[in-house]
Order: sequence, then structure tokens, then C-alpha cells
Amino acid sequence: MKQKITKAVFPVAGLGSRFLPATKATAKEMLPVVDKPLIQYAVEEAVAAGITDMVFITGRNKRAIEDHFDKAYELEATLEAGGKTELLRLVQSVVPSHVNCIYIRQAEPLGLGHAVLCAKPVIQDEPFAVLLADDLIDGEPPIVKQMVDVFAQHQCSILGVQDVPRAHTKQYGIVSSSNIEPNVEKVHGIVEKPKPEVAPSTLAVVGRYILTPRIFHHLENVAPGAGGELQLTDGIAALMLEETLLAYRYNGIRYDCGSKLGYLQAQVAFGLKHAELRTEFAEYLKTVC
Ligand code: G1P
Repeated sequence: MKQKITKAVFPVAGLGSRFLPATKATAKEMLPVVDKPLIQYAVEEAVAAGITDMVFITGRNKRAIEDHFDKAYELEATLEAGGKTELLRLVQSVVPSHVNCIYIRQAEPLGLGHAVLCAKPVIQDEPFAVLLADDLIDGEPPIVKQMVDVFAQHQCSILGVQDVPRAHTKQYGIVSSSNIEPNVEKVHGIVEKPKPEVAPSTLAVVGRYILTPRIFHHLENVAPGAGGELQLTDGIAALMLEETLLAYRYNGIRYDCGSKLGYLQAQVAFGLKHAELRTEFAEYLKTVC
């Protein structure tokens, strides 16, 4: 029987140290791009792929994320009393009513692999998606939907990938692979953050994954890797020895909102697409460039 992806994991326990002091008391995933926090873009992407259970792996200072996806009684009552129906609709539509939000606390920041492993009690024996919210990817259809469609056909783990400049390989998981159909590669090797001179290719894993539940077995058994952390990449490398692993060259533009430059680029790109702002913002940009 063909399996479907109904659950997504959002690891959001990271410290966000690259955005201090902005992230001293709040989550980096709550940083807005124009008028929506990064985590909401990621959740909307999952919803667009037909996913209904959102599993957030949270840590300290992340309560704002839970509040964001919760009902805001006082705010809603105030907007309603003030006749602000459009704003009320915006606040109420942050998550559709058929979507469940589940929160699991990662007590210690032991790495991305450990964060994903924390989702095991909820995911159990199903394939699932993982989205890293600081990779904001603009694509139509949205990237997870593209990957779910590839999964529907191949029924195996899939990594979202893109080519990066060789000098950047040390920021990513890098795969070696061979092309099997347009935009789809079979992965033969994966290594976390290799130096440019030893990187097996320049094909980099971005923050979108579809994984089979067998990944949990491997994450339970990997030793700490790069940076002393339990790396998702190392679990995936072990999974690849047992099961087919594909890489998918997604169709879209990625903004690395974990970096200040990528975050600013996202503000410009989404500002220029924003229904209310685009004309005035484009005029403004002409004056500064
Ligand atoms: C993580 C993964 C890395 C992946 C990257 C995508 O790294 O460990 O393999 O390429 O996300 O954004 P991080 O950016 O959390 O250091």
C-alpha cells in the first residue's frame, strides 16, 4: 500500500546565536519576513502539501511559537469589538482548523539529529517531512508539495537539494549522487559540512526532508558527529546503506534566513511580492539603489 505524508517535524530549539541580540528572548523562527514569522511560512508550506499534524521540537525561549499557533482570545475579542474584521480574519487563519499542533520539548541542544529523534513518539511508524524554518523557499507549488509528489511515486526518503558555490560546502550536508530522472538523483554518499577541498560535490541539502521512520533507529545509534552534535546527516548516511535515498532539485528560490544577508534578501523579495506594499516599496528601492 502506498504511504502518505501527514506529519511534519519543525526543529525549532536552536539558539539563534547568529541573530543576537534579536533572539535573546525570542525564537529566531519568530523573526518576521514582512508581516509573517518564518515558522508560519514553513507551516503554510506543510499545509499546502496536505500535512495535518505539525510537530514542533521546541526549547527554551520558544513559548512565542506555541502562542502564535494558539487561539488568542483577548486579541480576537478586541479586534471583533473594534470591527477590525480583516485583521480578525488574519489572526484566526494562522492555522486552519483541521491542523493539529503538537509540541515536544528538547531539553538539551544536542543537535538536529537529536531534535528529529525527539519526534519519534508522535511520528511512530510513518514517513514524515522535516522543515527547517530558517530556510525560506519560495516556489510554486511549494517545495514540500513538490517533494510529497516525488514521494508518492518513489516511496523512499528524499532530500531537498540545490547547487551551491564550492566555497560554501562547509555550511551544508553535501551529497554525491547520480541522476535518475529530471531533477531526481539517487544518493550514494552524504557528508556534513565538508571543507571545499574535500567536498564530494557542490550539491547541498537544504532544510527540507522526507524521511522514512527507519531514520529513528539510526539516530538512536549514531555517535556525535560534526561539532560534537548528533547530526541528522549521519543518521541519513546510515539509512542510505539500507534503503533507497533520493535527492530532489526543487523548483524555487531559497533564502537562507539563518544568515543576516539571506534574511534581508527575503525581506526585499517578499516585500516586492506583497499585495499592499509592492508598488510603493519598488519605488522606494529605486530611490536607494
Ligand atoms: C543543517 C544540516 C545541514 C543542512 C542545513 C540546511 O545545518 O545539518 O546538513 O545542509 O541544515 O539548511 P545548519 O544550517 O542547521 O547548521
